[in-house]
Amino acid sequence: MLRWFSMARAPIAPDVGVFALVSLMTSKKWESCRFSPNFNTFVTQKNQHTMQVWNEYLAENKQRFLDELLELLRIPSVSADSKYKEDVARCAEAVKEAMVRAGCDKAEVCPTAGHPVVYGEKIKDPALPTVLVYGHYDVQPPDPLNLWDSPPFEPVIKDGKIFARGACDDKGQMYMHIKALEVMVKTDSLPCNVKMMIEGEEEVGSDNLGKFLESNKEKLKADIVLISDTSMISMEHPSIESGLRGLTYMEVEVTGPNRDLHSGVYGGAVANPVNQLCKMIASLHDENNHITIPGFYDKVLELNAEEREALNQAPFDLEEYKKDLDVKEVWGEKGYTTLERTGIRPTLDVNGIWGGYTGEGAKTVLPSKAYAKISMRLVPNQHSTEIENLFKAHFESIAPEGVTVKVRHHHGGEPVVTPTDSPAYQAAAKAIKATFGKDPIPTRGGGSIPIVALFESVLGLKTVLMGFGLDNDNIHSPNEKYDVANYYKGIETIPYFHKYFAESKA
Ligand code: BES
Ligand code: MN
Ligand code: MN
Repeated sequence: MLRWFSMARAPIAPDVGVFALVSLMTSKKWESCRFSPNFNTFVTQKNQHTMQVWNEYLAENKQRFLDELLELLRIPSVSADSKYKEDVARCAEAVKEAMVRAGCDKAEVCPTAGHPVVYGEKIKDPALPTVLVYGHYDVQPPDPLNLWDSPPFEPVIKDGKIFARGACDDKGQMYMHIKALEVMVKTDSLPCNVKMMIEGEEEVGSDNLGKFLESNKEKLKADIVLISDTSMISMEHPSIESGLRGLTYMEVEVTGPNRDLHSGVYGGAVANPVNQLCKMIASLHDENNHITIPGFYDKVLELNAEEREALNQAPFDLEEYKKDLDVKEVWGEKGYTTLERTGIRPTLDVNGIWGGYTGEGAKTVLPSKAYAKISMRLVPNQHSTEIENLFKAHFESIAPEGVTVKVRHHHGGEPVVTPTDSPAYQAAAKAIKATFGKDPIPTRGGGSIPIVALFESVLGLKTVLMGFGLDNDNIHSPNEKYDVANYYKGIETIPYFHKYFAESKA
């Protein structure tokens, strides 16, 4: 049984003159420790009291907090597939209701050209700093269904982990913020104003959210954006992502003959678009696994030796990594480590490829068409539309005579780097230290959250990425999970962020 709430008081951050309740983790279990009154002399009465009531409220409502998340996970809010449109709408309503129950004075479902945005706020005092929490209630499609050990929208808890689509990405992580708000509001200890913007289109590229930002600038006015939609290294090595990669997502269509042909009658005499597409795709990397698109690396910001050294200091076990994935060897751009390949280097991947006959048995056919979905992860200072244009021009130029190529764009987003020397990052670091008992390690995340760049360009806001997921949470994959301990740890940590951020602005 998980004993997440057994806590001890231990000294932290003497510079701020407080002692926090620190969850001590020895081995993988929480050890029960008794409160030691000796430490008490250093704690201001008010601070100590606040932390104690937070923890009491958490302990008393622990089971309900979990049950409510499971309820939300039962709604199949798949944004990519129109057959779930009603469920997505139902999920938005559920998020709004949850905001009201948590103590928001205002909560609304805001229609967009796509799926709605849920907005809620608790304004304590307009003079206080405001944190804008962003998250998403939409999830990835659950396919392939046959690879799930339990149905994706019937959450189960096994070995202290919640298994369901969205458990980690991002319902579980987003819901921590709603529960953390409840903790602060219901114990009358909210240190700042909180606004929440929870969208329903993150997994399909947030196409309508930029417009929502543009037309709601006043409503979204804040001092910082706080997001839990990324991962940390482990509970033993808490970390904060200080960057996200950008994305350019394309689809290509290769056409050979005007109709499917008998592969005996025509085979060997007419270009097969599937063969040609494979050849074109293969040519996009050279023998060192560099991407061959001319100009692709021109704007890539190279880190200096010192920065690379720092990045590679993060705990990482290559053997464990390979073992976890059942691969004999890792793959990637020559001259870079695995952490660099996922953190600071751009990539190109085929996400899906199809054409010809893929049904049961065998059919002899020389197909007329072949398709692929190709995405590129971008790093500073690459730009998604520039990369889109370079890709398109190159892909068209390498098409052999016997086929025609159509290239179209799906979506894109810009890379971001979040500063680690800002008061907001420091508030997150102190919050983590308060509840994990360790300083977080700054890391560079490989994933993308397209709206983050727009928070800065449209609203002028910086972001803190305080994620509690783990890389092996199987997000976007069958058997997605989120550790119950991480869920509770997030709820426990978030109020500290608000407190330390508000103090930094005082
Ligand atoms: N939460 C992820 C992004 C993420 C995951 C960042 C892990 C860092 C670590 C987000 O929901 C996501 O999946 N984004 C998409 C991009 C989107 C445009 C479909 C992605 O990264 O593929
Ligand atoms: Mn996400
Ligand atoms: Mn995702």
